[in-house]
Amino acid sequence: MFQKSPKRPMSITLKTADEIDKMRVAGRLATEVLRMIRPHVREGITTDELDRLCHDYMVNVQQAIPAPLNYRGFPKSICTSPNHVVCHGIPGPRKLKKGDVLNIDITVIKDGYHGDTSQMFAVGTPPLAAQRVCQVAYECLCIGIGMVRPGQRLGDIGHAIQRHAEAQHCSVVREYCGHGIGRNFHEDPQVLHYGTPGTGVELEPGMTFTIEPMINAGKRHVKLLPDGWTVVTKDHSISAQWEHTVLVTATGYEILTLLPGETL
Ligand code: MF3
Ligand code: CO
Ligand code: CO
Repeated sequence: MFQKSPKRPMSITLKTADEIDKMRVAGRLATEVLRMIRPHVREGITTDELDRLCHDYMVNVQQAIPAPLNYRGFPKSICTSPNHVVCHGIPGPRKLKKGDVLNIDITVIKDGYHGDTSQMFAVGTPPLAAQRVCQVAYECLCIGIGMVRPGQRLGDIGHAIQRHAEAQHCSVVREYCGHGIGRNFHEDPQVLHYGTPGTGVELEPGMTFTIEPMINAGKRHVKLLPDGWTVVTKDHSISAQWEHTVLVTATGYEILTLLPGETL
């Protein structure tokens, strides 16, 4: 029998109205951490100090849980990924210096639900090539989000992101991807940032997932450092990433990790 519309895998849950309200709260809190930390991202501060400020804000001000802390053994409350670090950088004694670009990735748990968002920060004026890959990664995120609507397929979104990155002479990291999110930090579906048009899961209202393209200025290949977390580009080229948590609505999408009044 011809299957007209691909069936949603059982592992992908549709959120109820009540769960969506909780996801909105968690998403807003994650973004508020990024807005809080922005003025602190300056020459001379260590990524440990950034971690501490975010941890204390989440725990004491927001009464939220920093999701990364002890997640599969991750030792800190945020991920800090400078320059050629692709993702999952562990905060430490490294001081930010003029010309660095830095991804800060925040995930909070509030009332049992997760909000996950990240963005690039510049310290001083980075080299043009670094600024460019940050801009391209942001454009890739926007292109991906702009395609979210019921009936759209994940392969089309991945393909559009990949096409833009490669047209700008950048590359897309394959080993890490966006993800369903809700009660769990990482759920199905996997949201690849490359792909084949007309393939993959078909979106339905009530799905919540992240889009978080990791875009390299050089080749796409990455390696994992011996700490078991830090992912770097093999060729040591600059890597950039931006992330939002999105909800599929009846007509399109809602970005759960923007503050009221903010737009992409
Ligand atoms: N926040 C990351 C993501 O976007 C995951 C970090 S996992 C951690 O999926 F353990 F490193 F925190
Ligand atoms: Co994520
Ligand atoms: Co994240």
